[in-house]
Amino acid sequence: MLRTANRLTTKPKYQTWIRMNKLLIFLGISLLFLMVTFFPIPTPLRVLSGLLALPFLYIVFILSYSIYQFAGFGGNYQSKIHDVIVSKVDNRGGNILDIGTGSGSLIIKLAKKFPHSSLTGIDYWGENWEYSKDQCERNADIEGVSDRIHFLKASASKLPFQDGEFDVVVSCLTFHEVKDSIDKTAVAKEALRTLKPGGTFVFMDLFLDEKTFGDVNGLLKFLKKNVSSIQADKLSDTIPLPRILLNKKVLGHGMIICGRK
Ligand SMILES: C[S@@+](CC[C@H](N)C(=O)[O-])C[C@H]1O[C@@H](n2cnc3c(N)ncnc32)[C@H](O)[C@@H]1O
Repeated sequence: MLRTANRLTTKPKYQTWIRMNKLLIFLGISLLFLMVTFFPIPTPLRVLSGLLALPFLYIVFILSYSIYQFAGFGGNYQSKIHDVIVSKVDNRGGNILDIGTGSGSLIIKLAKKFPHSSLTGIDYWGENWEYSKDQCERNADIEGVSDRIHFLKASASKLPFQDGEFDVVVSCLTFHEVKDSIDKTAVAKEALRTLKPGGTFVFMDLFLDEKTFGDVNGLLKFLKKNVSSIQADKLSDTIPLPRILLNKKVLGHGMIICGRK
């Protein structure tokens, strides 16, 4: 627990959805190819190396620009998208679950909007991510909501909760990341299992990416059969996004599916 004086001066740390190590790997490869162009080797090989650097430089550009647009010091789009999710939670909160809570940004926003709610954030916090449970707890403490949020390490593919335990279930950009389930729509169904009848769900993910989720109509058909109301919108129809974030490798396939069970 941070002392009150510290809490007032310490800022929460919410990393962006882009992993820095991924950016550094692509940057390293680009620099390597570029360095080769200065080696005393035949010109065609130097030209080839320069050409090989181009796609990696393009990825570095997309990733860096996305970090800038997602971060608080730039376009703040990550926080803006979380605000959209929060705005779609139409009941009084209650018992709230955030699946794949990352650094706790979304769940902390929910805790602030619903002061009488009790919240649970689960995440696998694998080593390939730069988020951690400690960081979530620290952020919640700094934001003054740690007494109502419980963070738990668990996999979204098999949630350690009873059927219908939550009044609200949200998840942002997590289902497609769940490596221990080949079927990513099964992860969304597992999330819905933990929601009470009448409870609200808001899921944002790359649902329009057929390679990951198959035809989204399959998932929508399942949901229509199992929930009382549902709305599905392309992310870009819900919030205006900078052009590069609409790249298919960033949020171009993004969709928000929400409703009541
Ligand atoms: C793109 S981040 C989104 C984080 C957070 N929802 C947000 O909007 O800031 C994806 C998250 O999925 C989490 N994740 C990956 N595999 C998971 C699993 N099997 N179960 C739970 N969370 C998982 C990662 O640790 C990471 O926090």
